[in-house]
Amino acid sequence: MASSLHSKGLILHCLILALSIVFSTLHASEPPLTLDYYKSTCPAVLEIVRKEMECAVLSDPRNAALILRLHFHDCFVQGCDGSVLLDDTITLQGEKKAPNNINALKGFRIVDRIKNRLESECPETVSCADILTIAARDAVLLVGGPYWDVPLGRKDSKTAGYALTETNLPTADEGLLSIISKFLYQGLSVTDMVALSGAHTIGMARCVNFRNRIYGDFVATSGFNNPLSQQYLSNLKSGCPPVKGSDNNESAMDYVSPNLFDNSYYQILIRGEGLINSDQELYSSILAIETKKLVAKYAENPIVFFEQFSESMVKMGNITNPDTYVNGEVRKNCRFVNT
Ligand code: HEM
Ligand SMILES: *[C@@H]1O[C@H](CO)[C@@H](O)[C@H](O)[C@H]1NC(C)=O
Ligand SMILES: *[C@@H]1O[C@H](CO)[C@@H](O)[C@H](O)[C@H]1NC(C)=O
Repeated sequence: MASSLHSKGLILHCLILALSIVFSTLHASEPPLTLDYYKSTCPAVLEIVRKEMECAVLSDPRNAALILRLHFHDCFVQGCDGSVLLDDTITLQGEKKAPNNINALKGFRIVDRIKNRLESECPETVSCADILTIAARDAVLLVGGPYWDVPLGRKDSKTAGYALTETNLPTADEGLLSIISKFLYQGLSVTDMVALSGAHTIGMARCVNFRNRIYGDFVATSGFNNPLSQQYLSNLKSGCPPVKGSDNNESAMDYVSPNLFDNSYYQILIRGEGLINSDQELYSSILAIETKKLVAKYAENPIVFFEQFSESMVKMGNITNPDTYVNGEVRKNCRFVNT
């Protein structure tokens, strides 16, 4: 058993290496981002975003999670280019109604509010993609997470990537290998993936995304060896009855401290109590050799987690589509391409 596990780990390791080499060519050029991009054109940008985010998070800490997730879904589809913010129009199919996003993304009105304030302070200057990046940093900070400097200078796309939401975004019922490959495809490592998953220390998941985990035989098929505790399980079941009407009922992914950005998410995984299957995979999958070690490390040491999370967030924020720099723009309204 031990040696078969070992060889599985080795095969996985080689697969990851091979995939990293294939995908690294897709991200050869560094994006031209700088920390002082708006220094002369909009010196108040950071202060304005922070103020609006303070109000939003003070009125409801959930708003921090909404913004953080929006930034993630923006960056994984055509790079961080504000494409996730575009509404459907006659000539453009946005990403909001794609199966992986519909009913699952909120927080657009917070972005609108920030954009309005910025348009009156420094018109047509700050891109919506940059707004999301700064707002995501502030969101994390405001609920107790780390601070990091945010490279700026992204442009907004004139197109959206409806089909890419299907291929690029990871989902709740996905296996570890598949999730890893989606991160490698973006130029992000296994370490980045495990650290960024720590975002699930805040926010909620809908019943439809964990019903299989609490009722189905997922527990057996994905090799879980840590069943959910009976008390926790019965709480989850009462909020997520096995009927269609409860699909959108929500539960916290970190039931210990749902509104606090800390490392308790990883401690929950070690107890086998990850709410969505993809999270528990990081620790309990038969292939979880490297990821299991990282989960244990971050569960043990919040500082190490914060440092890696900060670095990985910058890396995720660096994902760009070179085309956007040539053909991109600064939208006046984050929901629509300029006319
Ligand atoms: C590793 C692969 C990932 C998978 C499979 C995944 C999947 C999910 C799922 C299924 C939900 C619940 C959504 C719903 O039920 O409506 C969710 C919520 C969330 N995700 Fe992820 N996610 C992943 C990575 C990330 C990353 C990298 C970030 C950000 C850095 C992130 C941030 C969030 C946040 C903040 C929420 C809560 C949103 C809310 O409260 O509405 N996730 N994720
Ligand atoms: C992100 O991009 C900036 C500039 O474009 C670069 O200086 C920085 O090293 C990159 N950071 C990471 C973690 O990739
Ligand atoms: C979940 O949805 C069901 C409807 O199917 C409802 O009766 C129940 O009150 C909801 N539970 C929670 C905790 O919201």
